[in-house]
Amino acid sequence: MKYYPIRFLAVIIFVTSLIAQADAFTSKANGIKLEKLRVEYLHNPEGIDMQHPRFSWVVDGNRRGIGQKGYQILVSSNVNSLTTGSANMWDSQQTVSDKSVNISYDGKKLQSDKTYYWKVRVQDQNNEWSNWSRIQRFHTGLMNESDWQGEWIGSPDTTISAPLLRKEFNANKEIKSAHVFISGLGYYELYLNGKKVGNHKLDPGTSNFNKRALYASYDVTNYLKSGDNAIGVWLGNGYFRMNRKRPFKYYGDRPQMIVQMNITYTDGSTAHVVSNTSWKTSSSPILDNSVYNGEVYDARKEKDGWDKAGYDDQDWKNAVHPDIPKNRKLSAQLMPPIRVTKTIYPVSMREPEKGVYVFDFGQNLTGWPQLFVSGAQGQKVTMKTAEVTRKDMMQMMDKDTEGIVDTVDASPDRTAKARDVYILSGEPGTATYSPRFTYHGFRYIQLEGYPGKPTLSSVAIRVAHSDVKQTGSFKSANGLFNQIHKITVWGQKSNLMSMPTDCPQRDERMGWMGDAHLSAQEAMHNFDMAAFYTNWLNLIQDEQNDDGSVPDIVPDHKWLPGTKVGTPAWQVAYPLIVWDMHEYYGDDRVIEQHYNSLKKWMGYMKSISNDYIITKGRGDWVPPKLGYSPIDGSVPITSTGYYYKSAQLMSKMADILGKDQDKAMYSKLAQNINDAFQQKFWNQRKGQYGTGSQMSNVFPLYLGIVPKNRQQTVVNDLVNNIEMKHNDHLWTGILGTKALVEALPEHNNADVLYDLTNQRTYPGWGYMVSKGSTTLWERWGGYRYFGADMNSLNHIMFGSIDEFFYKNLAGIQSTAPGFKNIVIRPSADIAGKKLNWAQASVKTIRGKVASKWKFQGGAVEMNISIPANSTATVSIPKGNIKGPFTVTESSKTVWSGQSFHKTTGIHSAKEDAEYVTFEVGSGDYSFTLSGK
Ligand code: BGC
Repeated sequence: MKYYPIRFLAVIIFVTSLIAQADAFTSKANGIKLEKLRVEYLHNPEGIDMQHPRFSWVVDGNRRGIGQKGYQILVSSNVNSLTTGSANMWDSQQTVSDKSVNISYDGKKLQSDKTYYWKVRVQDQNNEWSNWSRIQRFHTGLMNESDWQGEWIGSPDTTISAPLLRKEFNANKEIKSAHVFISGLGYYELYLNGKKVGNHKLDPGTSNFNKRALYASYDVTNYLKSGDNAIGVWLGNGYFRMNRKRPFKYYGDRPQMIVQMNITYTDGSTAHVVSNTSWKTSSSPILDNSVYNGEVYDARKEKDGWDKAGYDDQDWKNAVHPDIPKNRKLSAQLMPPIRVTKTIYPVSMREPEKGVYVFDFGQNLTGWPQLFVSGAQGQKVTMKTAEVTRKDMMQMMDKDTEGIVDTVDASPDRTAKARDVYILSGEPGTATYSPRFTYHGFRYIQLEGYPGKPTLSSVAIRVAHSDVKQTGSFKSANGLFNQIHKITVWGQKSNLMSMPTDCPQRDERMGWMGDAHLSAQEAMHNFDMAAFYTNWLNLIQDEQNDDGSVPDIVPDHKWLPGTKVGTPAWQVAYPLIVWDMHEYYGDDRVIEQHYNSLKKWMGYMKSISNDYIITKGRGDWVPPKLGYSPIDGSVPITSTGYYYKSAQLMSKMADILGKDQDKAMYSKLAQNINDAFQQKFWNQRKGQYGTGSQMSNVFPLYLGIVPKNRQQTVVNDLVNNIEMKHNDHLWTGILGTKALVEALPEHNNADVLYDLTNQRTYPGWGYMVSKGSTTLWERWGGYRYFGADMNSLNHIMFGSIDEFFYKNLAGIQSTAPGFKNIVIRPSADIAGKKLNWAQASVKTIRGKVASKWKFQGGAVEMNISIPANSTATVSIPKGNIKGPFTVTESSKTVWSGQSFHKTTGIHSAKEDAEYVTFEVGSGDYSFTLSGK
């Protein structure tokens, strides 16, 4: 054995204890673990650019009934001091609070480009403190405009499609750290010493580029070396310079970028490498690039080593300053970036025409092709992408496919060319090519010009979208529902490209507001959307017009004339998603931040109303068999209805902000709109609203404004319409469908919703599945009635059905902001009657909620997880089991002879006709209910 001097040993022990401290979250005093520590919803983020970032954590532990009574947060600029418990930036002190979500930093002023470290501990309801969490960090961005020394630059030659820009610099001392801040218009890729920095794709996230550009921040210490270095930036057009045919306006005539690298040397001195006109620029092998039209890449024009030191750039030109709008601000991109999340390979290959190969990947999705090829110089390989082949299209339209040459059919993409072209360099070996500055929505790749005969390994697809974490899962005994859930999840992720898009394939791909609010709650079950929507709400605010209105599309991108002032049912995404953020993530800052803008927006709504009725709008978009707009009077019902809903939400938001006058004002407004609504749309003689269509009756039910004494009549009329007139089918467009999904269960008709969802015939989600769809469609009939125009097979606006699976089948519902209180209550009309088992889980902002139930042999088993610091009301459905009932939990009797037997974590119980219900604290529970 080696002998160490005592002093040395003491040091080792000290250091080891520091590390143990740092990992304290694994050793659990009072059985509590602190996990998922986040700042502004992000894990150890770079680029925090606000003075009061918010901290969140998940309290966990395998004890039952854990509640948080207090917390203490320490923030320091010095990691060592933090390990020993001293914080030079902020000590929240021991604070009595059960808040574990979105607690604002309230310490000394944060500086730009600096790393801060933090940790937290919590006190449980027995007054015991947990150990300190693991130490986390965040790095600040360039918090003031004046911190930016870099300048916006671009190529002097506007005909260049995707210019390269480069700069060499010398790091003449030992580097301690280096951070880079970069933004581009439209897309950029950053390279340091021959390596691409980070794994973001299609950065920056899109915005109204005249008002805001998002910048990314990276710790690039490990990319640099002492001595000569090179920084390179590759630019693409993105949404900044859109070269497509529809009416639109360019933001600018050339792509641009701004970059700043701050280097700190070990001797404390600093250096900056910044973009300016001393940078050199040239063309690249990308001859053409467009979000919609794909890319043309000529490998013969590659510039080997352009991003490394020592490259000869003598014939490159100096970069120039483009025109910069005065009000454009740079703000940090604080949301999950677009990334490649998966690579998938074809399931089949056909050769419908000589030399034309069609690869089927079996899944409609978003991303781009990857090509593996070798061959002669100058050989041109074209990859066309499409959602369908010609046969698919004909079949969906019930047309004869006899004699059809089954190549891909890209007509639904409209003017989007949706193809990538690769021209070979002729170098020996296999080249791997993927386009950089475009994306497509597709299932098939058609390869043309491939040298020789390709194989199943000649192409792949790089699946790409905003890399939000999947938080939800659902499964049940109903295979059709599982399939609907699956295509919804694929549809949802296909339509998250830094903004919520309508579709990923045709010449559109825009942030349509209606589509976004209709799918927001579904998305919040399936994915962690908090940071994503936080960003998008800022973009909505950016786009607000002087009269208070907001566009149909955000960012507006001047895409479609006439949408700059949106229609009410689309504009309403603004208050609705602010409210969803509050409900799902317990976020009140969004309310604070947007309240004044929302007030202004309400002013606009008022200005277009007449005696509280709004007649303008688009109405219940794309209902069955209708081209676009409905003719059933759904316009005033939805526009006025959303006006009511907004007034009601504004009153709640005012209450949260302590604005009592506003609260009263908006609640009065809501009442007035409601009165006018009843007056205008209720038909006493017929006992129905509006035309009596499903939409007209379900919308007021969804709004919760049908007076009690009318409710049964309206519900009966609605159910009658669904069951008798439409033979158990829905007959609604996108707005009415979401209303059905929410209102039917709410008004005790979950079984009706079950039955209409369980159809495989037109119209409904099951029809899509029966036709082999792998994502949700824009129209209930696919191409059946309207052919290819405005017809996408990957739209998310009917995605609200997933809410039914989570909320009413698995039964998971949040009843207080951010899942602080939870109800688990599978629908009594379904559980054990129409369905024998279902399970779902949602990783909420407070931790995982799970519900799994199964009827078997005269009993129902129900396994539940409730996160710490939350409480739940768990209702176990009786199904068709006959009483008297006994319930056990982990084999202990908790309910028998109509009385409750207390056990750890369960506080009370009661029984009614349909359920035995328990009030529980956090933890895992395993219930079994059995009859006599
Ligand atoms: C989009 C929609 C959108 C609609 C409204 C369509 O072109 O794809 O999803 O909501 O227009 O007009």
